[in-house]
Amino acid sequence: MPTRLVVPNEIAPGERRIALAPDVAKKLSATGVSVALQQGAALSSYFKDEDFVDVEIVADAATLYKDADLIFKVMPPTLDELKLMKDGCTVVGFMVPSKNAEMMQLMCEKKITSLAMELVPRITRAQSMDALSSQASIAGYMGVLMGAQLAPVFFPMLTTAAGTIRPAKVLVIGVGVAGLQAIATAKRLGAIVEAYDVRSATREQVESLGAKFIDTGVSADGEGGYARELTEDEKQQQQDVLAKHIAMADVIISTAAIPGRPSPKIITEAMVEDMKTGSVIVDLASEGGGNCELTKPGETFEYKERVTIHGPLNVPGELPIHASEMYAKNLFNLVSPFINEGELALDFEDDVIAGCVLTRDGAIVHAQYKK
Ligand code: NAI
Repeated sequence: MPTRLVVPNEIAPGERRIALAPDVAKKLSATGVSVALQQGAALSSYFKDEDFVDVEIVADAATLYKDADLIFKVMPPTLDELKLMKDGCTVVGFMVPSKNAEMMQLMCEKKITSLAMELVPRITRAQSMDALSSQASIAGYMGVLMGAQLAPVFFPMLTTAAGTIRPAKVLVIGVGVAGLQAIATAKRLGAIVEAYDVRSATREQVESLGAKFIDTGVSADGEGGYARELTEDEKQQQQDVLAKHIAMADVIISTAAIPGRPSPKIITEAMVEDMKTGSVIVDLASEGGGNCELTKPGETFEYKERVTIHGPLNVPGELPIHASEMYAKNLFNLVSPFINEGELALDFEDDVIAGCVLTRDGAIVHAQYKK
């Protein structure tokens, strides 16, 4: 019997992405698995049911989940969704394990195998499966467009009959995948871009995109290519240098993050006080609390009617067609090597699968989350 792969409607409020796209559905069907999609589930990503060739359309979630061997999701399954799944199935998606203890417990009870997309190792071989990267690059792009829309100034230099317009100054804080895409997008819009990160490798990346790297003298390379948390002295040194650049910026895009920790607070209220009237902060780190100490995640407000502080959540969901296409490809690239003549047989010795398997055979198996 071929593996039955199903893709349900995403029920998290405001979630517009879906874990399948028409092209990816075609590639999946070609592996021999049978693919089913919940009716209308892809409409929020502007895909119609009839765009999916060789895909069975199932009217309701309960029927869809009942016979599913493999489930592709974007957001973590809720307890109600898990209850509809058959014991021993496999679920792939973002799992946010640090916030979902009950979900993991129920997965164990039902002997569900779960692969957490945020735990896919950041190794070269796994780049095409890296959903953190695909979604972060969307966030970086969208963050700049949000900043451009909220700013009361042009981004490019313009020479017009009504005078010459100076280009906007954009400061990008945190130069991971989102930050690099933010730099590239702001440059394309004609802004003057400066950027800052605590990892030493980022200087070259910033400069290769034609932006200026801000050297604060603090370098905090941590484990696995990530940044570590700064000491109090390092934070002070960082703030002393950054304050001047923050005060000159028209738009700040902040993306700094440390895996498994709240977002580092980099922009203080005193720094915001010194910002130009009309300037904007787009805090892409809002999901983890924000890089600005004034950010209200999920809200946009004007600080003292002078500085707009935007704390968007689920930014990739704002670009649902491409976010879904890229995410679905990541899932396909992760799982398809283990489909043989239409049957899924994951190899738990494979270092990518071993790195992202969260629950299996009734236990939490990921080293970071097992008790
Ligand atoms: P992230 O989203 O976890 O963090 C964003 C950025 O914030 C990072 O560059 C980090 O250094 C920076 N940051 C943290 N604390 C900061 C502070 N106090 N001040 C300023 N900046 C601060 O990062 P992302 O995009 O997930 O990438 C992190 C690492 O993963 C990098 O080493 C990157 O090269 C690596 N990577 C590897 C991939 C692969 O080979 N498959 C794919 C994508 C990323």
